[in-house]
Amino acid sequence: MTHAHEHAGPGPRTQGRPHDHPPHHDHAASAALLDLDAEVLGAWLPGAADLVAAHAPDASVVVDLGAGTGTGTLALARRLPAATVVAVDRSPAMLERLRAAAAAAGVGERVRTVAADLDAAWPATGTVDAVWAASSLHHLADPDRVLRDAHAALRPGGVALVVELDEQVRLLTDDLAPGLASRLAQAASTWNVHPDWGPHLERAGFEVLDVHHVTTEAVDSRYGRAWLTLLRTGLAERLAPADVATLDRLLAEHPATLDSLPVRAERTLWLARRPAAPSPHSPVHSPTHSPTTHDGGAR
Ligand SMILES: C[S@@+](CC[C@H](N)C(=O)[O-])C[C@H]1O[C@@H](n2cnc3c(N)ncnc32)[C@H](O)[C@@H]1O
Repeated sequence: MTHAHEHAGPGPRTQGRPHDHPPHHDHAASAALLDLDAEVLGAWLPGAADLVAAHAPDASVVVDLGAGTGTGTLALARRLPAATVVAVDRSPAMLERLRAAAAAAGVGERVRTVAADLDAAWPATGTVDAVWAASSLHHLADPDRVLRDAHAALRPGGVALVVELDEQVRLLTDDLAPGLASRLAQAASTWNVHPDWGPHLERAGFEVLDVHHVTTEAVDSRYGRAWLTLLRTGLAERLAPADVATLDRLLAEHPATLDSLPVRAERTLWLARRPAAPSPHSPVHSPTHSPTTHDGGAR
């Protein structure tokens, strides 16, 4: 059971310093969770790709920044059948998984993977029609520089879609463990700290066209187990011993306990455009490219 609904308008935002992965996190488990998230809570993906397609229907090159396992790359490749999607990530393991997924989805010929650290420099993408950055900007050391580079790489009139979770995915109902869902969300909140990207997009020269809020909900015991395992591993030092014991008990009792727990994700989508004609106030910016490792080519 999965559904999505969306409503326009800005919502409350968290403020703070970008933070990276949970401590002790396991890359294979993170990759599996990204795929599971798209499968279970990914009902927003086609609509988000529609937003890009509505503004770049004839796109020939689209870039997915921090592409991970390729959940956005695949949504874009499916929605834009004439486009090549350039998937950029610093993790070769993620990109390997992405190439396999693209091949399995029959879009491998139109997906190019680029192993590059966006903190070092913008990869050599050439001029692009659209940029997608889902749950990735908050990982970057200097996201404003990357947004300026994205603006410079986009053709005039090209579009950018930035997506972030509003808070960590929520899993537990309070009748199982009173208050635990809130304490877990609070303890995990630093994994996902990000600002309102609207002003950042504007400072980089973009015109923000729209802000969407999308909520997806589902019941899926695989998600419950994967997410609780990640929380148990990553948050053990930040949780009270009683909460760690509760997590251990919930995991041990899987699947009976976890089968029926709803999971919910709330996301904000910022849709922005590089103005077609430069305004007198538009910043002039040229990205500096560094040598990048192309670990794919069109495969
Ligand atoms: C939370 S995942 C999101 C993946 C995907 N966009 C999605 O929505 O499923 C963040 C991704 O950003 C990548 N990433 C983080 N910092 C990066 C950097 N400096 N340069 C390139 N990729 C980076 C990570 O390797 C990871 O795959």
